[in-house]
Amino acid sequence: MTATEKLILYRFFKTSADYLRGYALSEEEPVFVDTEIAPAEAAQQDAAPAQNPSTEPHVLFQQAGQDSRFSTMADIAQAVHACRGCGLVATRIHAVPGEGPEELSRLQNSVEVMVIGEGPGADEDKTGRPFVGKAGQLLDKMLEAIQLSRKTNCYITNIVKCRPPQNRDPAPAECAACAQFLEAQIRLQKPLAILVFGRCAAQLLLNTTEGIGKLRGRFFDYNGIPLLATYHPSALLRDESLKRPAWEDLKKFRTQLLQLRAERV
Ligand code: URA
Repeated sequence: MTATEKLILYRFFKTSADYLRGYALSEEEPVFVDTEIAPAEAAQQDAAPAQNPSTEPHVLFQQAGQDSRFSTMADIAQAVHACRGCGLVATRIHAVPGEGPEELSRLQNSVEVMVIGEGPGADEDKTGRPFVGKAGQLLDKMLEAIQLSRKTNCYITNIVKCRPPQNRDPAPAECAACAQFLEAQIRLQKPLAILVFGRCAAQLLLNTTEGIGKLRGRFFDYNGIPLLATYHPSALLRDESLKRPAWEDLKKFRTQLLQLRAERV
């Protein structure tokens, strides 16, 4: 049984118990983990041909075709809010499509930079806005240091638009279900460059299992758009020693962006 399924069951029984015994003061929810499947069952699954190889997210991100359902950012946001494409819908409070300059978020338009994280955390789930917790406040400062801001020239979003319970890594099927939205966001916003935060997002977008220590600070080509990955602000909050290399990466990104701007005019 997966952690998400266990959490759903827990909440179901908790609600019933609260109803019967009267509401208890709010208790911390237990942290559930996926139960590993028995070796025999796993072997059977390995032997079975893959039903849909594109549920491998890194493959899917390359395969995600142009989705004509979406011609404005508002179309995408609406579809994200209505999405029932994976199990995260059962545990989320709010879906979090993304956020950019007010007028651009609604229309088909372009931002200079697309900022991509992993997935909403507790604060984002509560508010429906990306990167608003502690890591988000640090992200805003990091962006500001290179003259970027969600209010003027960046669109901030995530690989998955709903919170994975207990902030676990998003599962392949969850990333696969969400890939259509990110692909459409990039297509409509046509950013000059993409800035990726954290191992999980970098690996998915770059189709690799290489660690973030190797991927960070280098430019890659993402369907014709220069993409640079660096450490996630949450990692910087846990480990101060990552701040300097992250700053070096941001400066490199800034230099490249200035050049891209100059080439555009
Ligand atoms: N971490 C992320 O990767 N994204 C958010 O929106 C918040 C925290």
